[in-house]
Amino acid sequence: LAGNPLAREYVEPQGRETSLPSSLSPKVESTLSITVVGASGDLAKKKIFPALFALFYEDCLPEDFNVFGYARSNMNDNELRDMISRTLTCRIDKRENCEDKMDQFLKRCFYHSGQYNSEEHFAELDKKLKEKEAGKLSNRLYYLSIPPNIFVDAVRCASLRASSANGWTRVIVEKPFGRDSESSGELTRCLKQYLSEDQIFRIDHYLGKELVENLSVLRFSNLVFEPLWSRDYIRNVQFIFSEDFGTEGRGGYFDNYGIIRDIMQNHLLQILALFAMETPVSLDAEDIRNEKVKVLRSMRPLQLEDVIIGQYKGHSKGGRSFPAYVDDPTVPKDSLTPTFAAAALFIHNARWDGVPFLMKAGKALHTKRAEIRVQFRHVPGNLYKRNFGTDLDKATNELVLRVQPDEAIYLKINNKVPGLGMRLDRSDLNLLYRARYPREIPDAYERLLLDAIEGERRLFIRSDELDAAWGLFTPLLKEVEEKKIVPELYPYGSRGPVGAHYLAAKYNVRWG
Ligand code: NDP
Ligand code: BG6
Repeated sequence: LAGNPLAREYVEPQGRETSLPSSLSPKVESTLSITVVGASGDLAKKKIFPALFALFYEDCLPEDFNVFGYARSNMNDNELRDMISRTLTCRIDKRENCEDKMDQFLKRCFYHSGQYNSEEHFAELDKKLKEKEAGKLSNRLYYLSIPPNIFVDAVRCASLRASSANGWTRVIVEKPFGRDSESSGELTRCLKQYLSEDQIFRIDHYLGKELVENLSVLRFSNLVFEPLWSRDYIRNVQFIFSEDFGTEGRGGYFDNYGIIRDIMQNHLLQILALFAMETPVSLDAEDIRNEKVKVLRSMRPLQLEDVIIGQYKGHSKGGRSFPAYVDDPTVPKDSLTPTFAAAALFIHNARWDGVPFLMKAGKALHTKRAEIRVQFRHVPGNLYKRNFGTDLDKATNELVLRVQPDEAIYLKINNKVPGLGMRLDRSDLNLLYRARYPREIPDAYERLLLDAIEGERRLFIRSDELDAAWGLFTPLLKEVEEKKIVPELYPYGSRGPVGAHYLAAKYNVRWG
C-alpha cells in the first residue's frame, strides 16, 4: 500500500489532504468506509460507535458513508446493530427525538466476522466494502480497537487485502504503542512495512479533550498569558490525573503496563509538551508536532529519585469494602505494578530551566479529576503581605485548567475583602464551561475521528514524538522493574501515598 501509486494521497499546502485536488475533480463522487476492527470490544461499544453516531447526528460525516464492524465473534448485521444501539444516546439535543437518526445510522452499519491474521477474511471484507462503494472514489478508515499484540497482523492483512484502490486508506491505532523504546520502535517498524507514516494515526484521546485543545488558544491568543509563560514567572506546573475507581475489569491489561505507561508516558506527557512548546510557525500539524518534539528532546530521562510509586490496598468505609489491586483475579497476588505514580520532570531550555513539572496519576483515589495547575512566583516586595489571613505561600497566583469533570479555567487572584479594613483573601476568576457554554461538550473520540477523516494530524502522535516520549520513561521503567521497587501502599479512596508530598516538598511545591 505504501508503495501503491494509486493509493497516494494528495497533500494540500496547509497540510489537509484529499484524495485528489478538488480543483481537478469537483464532480468525482466519493464514499467513506469506516471499519472498526475489534468491533465486539469494550472501546468500540463505549466510545467508537457512539462517537460515529454523534458525528452523523451533527452532519459531520460525508453524505455517503458506511460503518463496518470486524471481529472474530459470530454476529450478523442485525446483531451488530442491536449491540451498537444499546450505547447510542441523543446527547446533542435532548429535546429532539432522534430515533429516526439512530435508525438511519444503524442501517449503514454492517458486520463481517473474521480472524485478525487472515488475509482471506480481509479479502472477504474488501468484497463487502466494494459492494457498498459501487465504483465511487472510495476512502477507507480503519480503527484498530484490538489488543496491541495483534495490531501488526491486522494492519498487514487489511493493507494487503482491503485498502482502497483509488482513494486514501488511513489507520487509527490505539495505545499502548509498545511497552518501552524497543517494543515501540519494533511496532513502528512493523507498521511501516505496510503503511506510510502519513497513514498512521496514533491516537491519544487526551489530545481530543476540549480543555486540552483550548490550552494553545488560551496561551497564544491572549496577550496576558504568553508573556508570563516562562521560568521568570512560573514556579511550577502540575499535571494531575486521578480516578476514583480501581482497575476493575482491566487488571489483565493493566498489570502488564502500570500507571506510568498507561497515563504518564502518553496522556500527561502530551499535555506537558503542548503546554511547554515554543510558539509554532503555524497551526499546521507538522509545525505543532515539531515544537512538541523539541520539548521532549530538551528533557532528561526521569530519575528514580524523582519518582514515587504506589499501589492501592483494600479499604472499608461506611459499611462498604473496596478491594485491593491484587484482589483482582487477573492480577498476580505479589504484583508490584504501580497504580499510582508521582514524578518531577525538568525541561532544559532557556524558557523552563529549573522549573519543576510535576505529574501525578493514580487509580482508586478519593476523587476523579484531570487538571493542569500553573503556580506563579511570589510578588516581589509584596506590599500586602501583612494583610493575609493565610500564609504568603498560598497567596501566589494559580491558573487552573480543569480538563474534567466540570470543565473550567480559573485564575486564583488576591482580592480585598469588601469592608472598611484591609484584609485580603484569595478569589477565583472563573470560566465555568457549563455556565458559559451550556451545550454539551463533544467527546474526545468525536473530534479525533473527525480529524482522521479530514486528514488532520495535529492531534495524533508522530513516530519521532513517540520515540522521544519513550526515551524519557524507558530507563526509569527498567530500573523500577529490575530493582523490583516496592510501591507504597495507599488505601482505596484515599489521596494516595504520602511519598508524593515529600517529592513535591523536595522542590518547594505543594500539590494543588
Ligand atoms: P478488548 O479486550 O475488549 O478487545 C477488543 C476485541 O478484540 C474483543 O472484543 C475481541 O473480539 C478481540 N480480542 C480480545 N482479546 C483478543 C486476543 N487475545 N486475541 C485476538 N482477539 C482478541 O479491548 P478494548 O476494546 O478494551 O480496547 C481495544 C484497544 O483500545 C486496546 O488496544 C486497548 O489497549 C485500547 N484502549 C482501550 C480503552 C478502553 O477504555 N477500553 C481505553 C484506551 C485504549 P473478538 O473476540 O470478537 O475477535
Ligand atoms: C485510558 C487508560 O487511556 O484512559 C485508562 O488506559 C483510563 O486506564 C482512561 O481509565 C481515562 O480516560 P478518561 O477519558 O475517562 O479520563
